[in-house]
Amino acid sequence: MTPETWTAVDDYLGGLLVGADAALDKALQASDAAQLPAIAVSAPQGKFLHLLARIRGAKRILEIGTLGGYSTIWLARALPDGGRLISLEFEPRHAEVARQNVARAGLADRVEIRIGPAIDALPALPAGEPFDLVFIDADKPSTPDYVRWALKLTRPGSVIVVDNVIRKGEVIADRPDANAAAMREAMGLMAREPRLTTTVIQTVGSKGYDGFAIALVN
Ligand code: SAH
Ligand code: DHB
Ligand code: MG
Repeated sequence: MTPETWTAVDDYLGGLLVGADAALDKALQASDAAQLPAIAVSAPQGKFLHLLARIRGAKRILEIGTLGGYSTIWLARALPDGGRLISLEFEPRHAEVARQNVARAGLADRVEIRIGPAIDALPALPAGEPFDLVFIDADKPSTPDYVRWALKLTRPGSVIVVDNVIRKGEVIADRPDANAAAMREAMGLMAREPRLTTTVIQTVGSKGYDGFAIALVN
């Protein structure tokens, strides 16, 4: 089994489970044309996030790290009428591409993209309006802080998902790089936190070898 196989299987699964989707396809094209990094979740992963939000019946979703809005579209499509997704993005250029992609997907009414460092935007979110799902996928060294904020901004029954927690296995290296060290800290925090029930699923696919942490707020 090689990374080429993982990508070929992801292509097969994308075709089988997602197929041609005008808004998602255009979102990736526009992101590519604007030279955004090609690091959005894969199609099957996007659908996984969408399913988690549906299973939860999420009405309020927080995303940290918008990029071109690919995962944003998957998550926002899970919202019922009147539902709301707030996505935090540092780069104005990324946020502008995402805004257009979200509008083309017909989701502008339920998605708000806030530009700036997430660590500044998080304290401004109203604590009295908890989120049902939080997807953490921004600058990796801040992930432990984002998990702490997610705990403050959720309620029992909410779901917290963290992307990129395995980093090709770097997470168990003797001297992990700064990103992997942060993921180790984030997973340790989640594992020890009595308010969370957490697991981690390793993944392979078109994005290589990585993983998601998934937690339920007790
Ligand atoms: N969730 C997206 C991918 C996000 S990539 C998807 O799957 O489609 C990570 C994003 O986090 C990038 O757009 C990057 O600009 C943004 N980012 C980096 N540092 C940030 C910060 N401090 N605050 C908010 N966003 C940040
Ligand atoms: C990178 C970031 C991501 O969020 C991801 O899913 C894959 C790669 C990166 O910064 O390289
Ligand atoms: Mg990611």
